[in-house]
Amino acid sequence: MKTVQVLDKKFYLSISHEQIQVAITKVAEQMNEDLKNEDVIFLGILNGAFLFAADLFKQINFDTQISFLKVASYSGTSTSGTVKRLIGLNEDIENKTVVVLEDIIDSGITMEYLLKQLKGYDPKEIKIATLLFKPEAFVKDYNIDYIGMEIPNDFIVGYGLDYDGYGRNLKDIYTLLVE
Ligand code: IMP
Ligand code: MG
Repeated sequence: MKTVQVLDKKFYLSISHEQIQVAITKVAEQMNEDLKNEDVIFLGILNGAFLFAADLFKQINFDTQISFLKVASYSGTSTSGTVKRLIGLNEDIENKTVVVLEDIIDSGITMEYLLKQLKGYDPKEIKIATLLFKPEAFVKDYNIDYIGMEIPNDFIVGYGLDYDGYGRNLKDIYTLLVE
């Protein structure tokens, strides 16, 4: 079992870089079909989604835009339940199809907040795309349009996801080892 140490915790390899890329390709192909006739702006949610957004965006084959937003919401290994301000939306999204790109939807609270905020800018439509989804943790009821992979309700790091700011540069995804 391949393990890594991030700060004070040990994690084991659970999703390979190859599996991640397969999931992203599947999502990109769906988007290329569904959204090719829309005026789309992708909005990546920083920091976690930067690698997902980059790898996905390279596989989008229609003319489109991308920008990034930030919502600070998480510290340590459990969701705080409170989300803060949305920062960095400089683009005009009115009448556009917005595709929000998240690294992971856990409780769903962050995305609910984002949806509420973004609706205020009068987009034509908002689509949600997440690389990872924890169905057992999800406490909301909105529809998620694009899901790369469903995963168990365990804490993970790597491929953009962090543990207290570290571990984002791991190529693969690792799960917290509970000893
Ligand atoms: P939610 O509001 O509970 O859906 O949490 C969403 C945010 O929490 C994500 O954008 C991540 O930044 C962070 N998050 C949730 N689960 C994990 C995890 O297992 N590892 C690292 N970050 C996570
Ligand atoms: Mg995040």
